[in-house]
Amino acid sequence: MNISAIGAGYVGLSTATVFAELGNNVIVADISKEKINNLNNGVMPFFEPGLKELVIKNVKEKRLKFVDKNNYAIEHGDVIFICVGTPPKENWETELKYVENVAIEIAKNMTSYKVIVHKSTVPVETGDNIKKIINDNVKENINFDVVSNPEFLREGTAIKDTLEPDRIVIGADSDRAIDIMKKLYGPIKAPLIITDIRSAELIKHASNAFLATKISFINSVARICERSGADVENVAVGMGYDKRIAKDFLNAGIGYGGSCFPKDSQAFIKIAEKYGYDYKLLKATNEINEEQKQIFVKKIKDTLKNNDNKKVGILGLSFKPNTDDMRFAPSIYVIQELQKDGIKIKAYDPESMEKSKNILKDVEYCKNPYEASENTDALIILTEWNEFKELDFKRIKSLMNNPLIIDGRNIYNPDDMVKEGFRYISIGRKEVK
Ligand code: UDX
Ligand code: UDX
Repeated sequence: MNISAIGAGYVGLSTATVFAELGNNVIVADISKEKINNLNNGVMPFFEPGLKELVIKNVKEKRLKFVDKNNYAIEHGDVIFICVGTPPKENWETELKYVENVAIEIAKNMTSYKVIVHKSTVPVETGDNIKKIINDNVKENINFDVVSNPEFLREGTAIKDTLEPDRIVIGADSDRAIDIMKKLYGPIKAPLIITDIRSAELIKHASNAFLATKISFINSVARICERSGADVENVAVGMGYDKRIAKDFLNAGIGYGGSCFPKDSQAFIKIAEKYGYDYKLLKATNEINEEQKQIFVKKIKDTLKNNDNKKVGILGLSFKPNTDDMRFAPSIYVIQELQKDGIKIKAYDPESMEKSKNILKDVEYCKNPYEASENTDALIILTEWNEFKELDFKRIKSLMNNPLIIDGRNIYNPDDMVKEGFRYISIGRKEVK
């Protein structure tokens, strides 16, 4: 099939690349000429495992093409995916102008029947709005259908999630569009949920809100564990074996970040407000998430006691492992709060240091975890990258001023750390002395 994607971000690029890999002819358009030039030269706009190889392969095999003009993509695609960003406005409502502008452009440039699919996370009723915009701007009497096909991929596993999703949601009100979408997704083996457009839009916001709430739930339990002497890791395992609860997303830590949970949970509260509903549960989810970072900073400051002339080493800056994405990364808050107290920062992250340099100033960026430990009064884990799980702790201990590890992601066993000679403080687990 001839497919187009507008917006070469995480969602657009991953979706387009996977559809090309499945044998479709795909054109991706993006407003950024630099991004398009880079993509045509095999340079990815962000780090995502497996993406680069698949892009290069499909470009070479001429199934994937990048352009900086939307009209080429609009002309080419029988199915056009709108994948432009939907960032938060100052008041956390969703900024829809990019989606709306693309809808106008599609209307003005289409010359035959199109299935117009919105993949970006958008408030319920955006599909109706896109339909109206296209009807108002279309030149002749050209048929089209609007479909909501939300994306559930996670950064770091974007390609796998796109090729092997838990489910595919198709919100549509036309049999013609449903048939085309079914054919397109045919090679992907996953449950297909066919529903109305508004329900599809709500599935996306409800899913992200639920996952964010699950994280805040376990972070609340972690606070009770700390106070009662229980171990949140054991509590999570015990809960997770219940199929109704499920084990994923029960990792206590320093709160969720990234380009989705913080903005989508806030946006969902705004959407509810618009319909006259006070979404108290989700407000609490957000509040607990903010507190989680504050509690962690307090833990560091209380442990260091006198913060003057103290230096800490940070391991991990990205909001989660296997990505260089710094959007709403908890590391930003934690580091800036420590700096306010005069604490000096050394930091190492395998992928996100270039992006961090634009956000976090006065940080001594290091080449590896060992350099980041040297002459520090504490080593602080903010992202659970695999390479931090197996370190040479004897070497780390010999490099530090003070053998103290404060772990915001619970990646080490407390008994092992004490045996290695460290004072080890983590989340929701009592300190082994
Ligand atoms: C996506 C979804 O759009 C968002 O709704 C969801 O919540 C998170 O995932 P993502 O793919 O991460 O966003 O966005 P981003 O990486 O910011 O990419 C958006 C792309 O659209 C950028 O490359 C940008 O240059 C492009 N764009 C934006 C256009 O091509 N045209 C525009 O008018 C605006
Ligand atoms: C999320 C959704 O999972 C995905 O379905 C949606 O399409 C986009 O948003 P992503 O933001 O890439 O994906 O990452 P995810 O793995 O969900 O993690 C989000 C944040 O939650 C990270 O900061 C992570 O550290 C945190 N998290 C996750 C926890 O603190 N504990 C957990 O148990 C799981």
